Amino acid sequence: ARSFPFEGQYQSGVLTPPPSSKQKHAAFVSFDVIASSSGELKSLLQTITARSRALTAGGAAPYAGVGAPPADSDILGPQIPPCGLTATVGLGSSLFDGRFGLGAKKPSKLTQMPVFTNDSPEDSWMHGDLLLQLCADEPDAIHHTLRDLTRHTRGGMQMKWRMDGYNSVPRPSGTSRNLLGFKDGTANPTGNNASSLVWVDAASEPAWARGGTYQVVRLIRMLVEFWDRVSIEEQEDMFGRRRDSGAPLTGNTEFDTPDYKSDPFGLVIPTSAHIRLANPRTPQTNNQQLIRRSYNYDLGIDANGNMQAGHVFCCFQQDVQRQFATIQQRLADEPLVDYVQPFGGGYFFVPPGVRTSTDYIGSGLF
Ligand code: HEM
Repeated sequence: ARSFPFEGQYQSGVLTPPPSSKQKHAAFVSFDVIASSSGELKSLLQTITARSRALTAGGAAPYAGVGAPPADSDILGPQIPPCGLTATVGLGSSLFDGRFGLGAKKPSKLTQMPVFTNDSPEDSWMHGDLLLQLCADEPDAIHHTLRDLTRHTRGGMQMKWRMDGYNSVPRPSGTSRNLLGFKDGTANPTGNNASSLVWVDAASEPAWARGGTYQVVRLIRMLVEFWDRVSIEEQEDMFGRRRDSGAPLTGNTEFDTPDYKSDPFGLVIPTSAHIRLANPRTPQTNNQQLIRRSYNYDLGIDANGNMQAGHVFCCFQQDVQRQFATIQQRLADEPLVDYVQPFGGGYFFVPPGVRTSTDYIGSGLF
């Protein structure tokens, strides 16, 4: 069975290969921290670390003793398989609000996620003190992990909202598709370029935060019935790419680079197209690129009998203002906004990785 190493310079689940045929399942779970002192918060983070370390490695749970509740639920059987699990922990700005005396340690760009143009915020789906991003090859591994983590952290944190996500295998090839039918993730930076855009290293950040990253989650409803009544030409103009192959409208195959230089007025790729606004590909905007790691969600039907489905947009970057917020502001009023409705999510800071067997996530805070 596939497993990811838990220890490292960085947390996994950030540059871990994007969800496609593997890690097709995810849960984004936000918590209120109810620990009441700095010591309790520290022990909460130690417990999350210990359980995540054990579950990502897999193996048999210890015998709990006669008459005791078993140590594990056995949902995955007596030998817990690692199932390609990654557990990524992020911290919300509210954790640094004074309760734990962490004001001076707050990452310099961490705020509560603002309300952007065209957002329809729903309080019960927003923010949180701590975000767990669980990704795995199997859906029952997500359930098992969350059940184990909540069992061991009762009294320390309480679930606030949870959105499960899934992804599809690439069809017919390349990148997997979102619920609007378009390949999603094609132009993600990779390799050294991705590393240089994602990990916090600025002198303006508190020392403990270096090697961390800012995570943005946006829960975005898709009005899929409405979308299905739009012509293919209009759909493709909204993104600037072909729906079948994912190729930019100026190219032939998925990974061709969009050519804005020979199309300055947007006659082929409209200037309002999602990819053109998101990444104008100019020297001035290159450092605004971010790493996306999004999933689909499907909650069944809403109160009006419509499909309740959409996009768990997730991205990572070293500076949430310079990268995500700048792009989001440029996307304001793009044609796609008639078909999507952002209603939840938040900003979180993902601390650096756990380096030794005695280290724990967020140890630099104490
Ligand atoms: C590209 C879909 C929201 C940033 C794309 C592409 C699709 C897509 C199909 C083209 C293929 C690719 O390169 O991945 C969507 C959908 C959204 C959404 C359906 C909402 C429902 C956002 C948001 C942001 C964003 C909120 C950031 C603020 C980007 C970026 C690219 C991109 C940076 C790459 C552009 C490039 O480098 O060519 N998106 N997106 N997207 N999107 Fe989105």
